[in-house]
Amino acid sequence: MSHTITILSGDGIGPEVMVEALKVLDAVSEKFSFKVSHSEHLVGGAALDGTNNETPLPQETITACEKADAILFGSVGGPKWENLPPDIQPERGALLPLRKHFGLFANLRPGSCHPSLTHASPVKNELIPDGFDVLCVRELTGGIYFGQPKSITTLPDGDIEAIDTMVYRKSEIERIARVAFTAAMGRDKRLLSVDKANVLQNSVLWRETVIEVSKDFPEVELEHMYVDNAAMQLVKRPASFDTLVTGNLFGDILSDEMAMISGSLGMLPSASLGKVKDDGLYFGMYEPSGGSAPDIAGQGIANPIAQILSVSMMLRYSLGEIAAADAIDAAVQKVIDSGLRTGDIFTGAEGETKANTAEIGAAIIASL
Ligand SMILES: NC(=O)c1ccc[n+]([C@@H]2O[C@H](COP(=O)([O-])OP(=O)(O)OC[C@H]3O[C@@H](n4cnc5c(N)ncnc54)[C@H](O)[C@@H]3O)[C@@H](O)[C@H]2O)c1
Repeated sequence: MSHTITILSGDGIGPEVMVEALKVLDAVSEKFSFKVSHSEHLVGGAALDGTNNETPLPQETITACEKADAILFGSVGGPKWENLPPDIQPERGALLPLRKHFGLFANLRPGSCHPSLTHASPVKNELIPDGFDVLCVRELTGGIYFGQPKSITTLPDGDIEAIDTMVYRKSEIERIARVAFTAAMGRDKRLLSVDKANVLQNSVLWRETVIEVSKDFPEVELEHMYVDNAAMQLVKRPASFDTLVTGNLFGDILSDEMAMISGSLGMLPSASLGKVKDDGLYFGMYEPSGGSAPDIAGQGIANPIAQILSVSMMLRYSLGEIAAADAIDAAVQKVIDSGLRTGDIFTGAEGETKANTAEIGAAIIASL
């Protein structure tokens, strides 16, 4: 089997962690006998530097992504480009247009805490003795962030009124529900749908539609929860959740809450999925949940695990190489169990050894 991916390492720690992720990709593709051809293209600050500040997303980069099965993204941004006009700044001018261009409607963000890293979580250790592993599936292109009309108007009485409109079509809810049920099938087969169906018409349609889609996934146990309660339960008992699906606004907040309680941003990958390709798998963009970490860039000390787990998600959702994805996940677990830690998750506890980016990458490859 042969796959094509486009690599966009970007800025800051992006290129440093990408090097390790690509070594892991090469190692699993050899072990599991498939081919991945990859080419690197400019994005973000690196593209601005390469185009005399013309654009953070050159057409040549978009064309390369269009020809690929998936995009493996590093991170973009940094102080050097913060004073440029907003629409050509790395995140706004590259990341958001890429999501839009490829219609990336489903955002998958795991919020997980390895059993030996529970001390890094702000959740009390006795509540998560074995860590936790939740996957948040967030609708990314609809809902209140995009609904029209949107306005701020001065009223005849002098008061000022702001309007945002929340719109969801049944077809949009159906397609995100299908992604979530499919993801749950590959996990513990439990799906929690989060809405506010006691107040919002959008949520009434959301709940009805999710129930309809559930008929195609009889093995998945479906539960519903209002978003305010979900926000509380996630900090109280994160280990009881498996897969969670929700709209754009609620997902924005809950996925950040999950990243926070996991306690180690450098460990969390993410996936943004778009259309189903001819091979039945999703086109997707895969990247760490964190940013370009300019405070530690260039020192070789960033945690490469989020980028390496992004490779695993890409293999799972866009390339259909499930055995290789499982092998990467298991190798990462093994390295964490061995006590090897980059600075962001190192506490100095007994059994821990401090390691740099390249040493973690090498240990993961050795564990494959
Ligand atoms: N998707 C993206 O490309 C993306 C996302 C968020 C922020 N950004 C950009 O990144 C830059 C920095 O933003 P920020 O500081 O708010 O967020 P950040 O995620 O880059 O950093 C927050 C903290 O987490 C640490 N951290 C993040 N990833 C790490 C890793 N792999 N290993 C070890 N430590 C890690 C950083 O050192 C820092 O202390 C900004 O320019 C921002 O616009 C880009």
